[in-house]
Amino acid sequence: TPIPSPDLKTCGRATISDGPLVPYSCCPPPMPTNFDTIPYYKFPSMTKLRIRTPAHAVDEEYIAKYNLAISRMRDLDKTEPLNPLGFKQQANIHCAYCNGAYIIGGKELQVHNSWLFFPFHRWYLYFYERILGKLIDDPTFALPYWNWDHPKGMRLPPMFDREGSSLYDERRNQQVRNGTVLDLGSFGDKVETTQLQLMSNNLTLMYRQMVTNAPCPLLFFGAPYVLGNNVEAPGTIETIPHIPVHIWAGTVRGSKFPNGDVSYGEDMGNFYSAGLDPVFYCHHGNVDRMWNEWKAIGGKRRDISEKDWLNSEFFFYDEHKNPYRVKVRDCLDTKKMGYDYAPMPTPWRNFKP
Ligand code: C2O
Repeated sequence: TPIPSPDLKTCGRATISDGPLVPYSCCPPPMPTNFDTIPYYKFPSMTKLRIRTPAHAVDEEYIAKYNLAISRMRDLDKTEPLNPLGFKQQANIHCAYCNGAYIIGGKELQVHNSWLFFPFHRWYLYFYERILGKLIDDPTFALPYWNWDHPKGMRLPPMFDREGSSLYDERRNQQVRNGTVLDLGSFGDKVETTQLQLMSNNLTLMYRQMVTNAPCPLLFFGAPYVLGNNVEAPGTIETIPHIPVHIWAGTVRGSKFPNGDVSYGEDMGNFYSAGLDPVFYCHHGNVDRMWNEWKAIGGKRRDISEKDWLNSEFFFYDEHKNPYRVKVRDCLDTKKMGYDYAPMPTPWRNFKP
């Protein structure tokens, strides 16, 4: 049996990964209707694709637009805390789906570590992007993607490193600032090496995760997760580089914030808070792009055909504040969803070890 969409009525307290209860509720705001009457989502008609571009290469005009959209989203937290389009509400979606707020089939719902990872985050970004566009009246607004699989993108995209801008997050690890090259394979330990070596290691890693270790769907997407069966077997890209990028950008667990609070990896390094860093959605843009790039390699690299995957469901609020149920089967083709990725070369394809 596929994983059904959680019901808002059953939403309870969430727990910080490796920590205490989340000190606030991560549940979505009350719904206008009963859960059973929430309709299935239908794609609105569109005239132009939204094109997601590499975050390191955007121009000032785009940066201004993106900042404005995020700051309007942040403003909603103050003026209408129960508006589902608000910045914290959007971040709480991740918390609710990943930190045990919902019980499904007698177990905590968890959209990581299994084949739900790619489709959940695709739908999540889909609505997030439309909300940002709505807030600035731009129906073609598209998120940027953090192009960490290309040497030019292997550092925090500069637009996120401007103190005081709405894309900045002061709870980020300071080590990620000022162009530090990131290590796609590191779970926290630092290896002393040259920038050039690090970049070449990253490309080798990408080849391994996209090609060598992911010749068929379940290895790429992760293990089956169906009702009553909680697996913990993430796909290749979810494990590396997805997790290392999170750990890299969040503070070190156990360290102290200036106000004395102990860190649980906030923001990026813990599921409950990851969506509070705007760079989260940029990181996941590239994770999502890897899904398309993986299929483009060919061979047996195709979407899963099992019904238990195709019929799994989630629910989200759209940009008009209406809740909808969505199915995995409707998110397999990004162009049908109304967006695509601006192409970038994928040099890792030539980095066979
Ligand atoms: Cu839902 Cu990158 O985590």
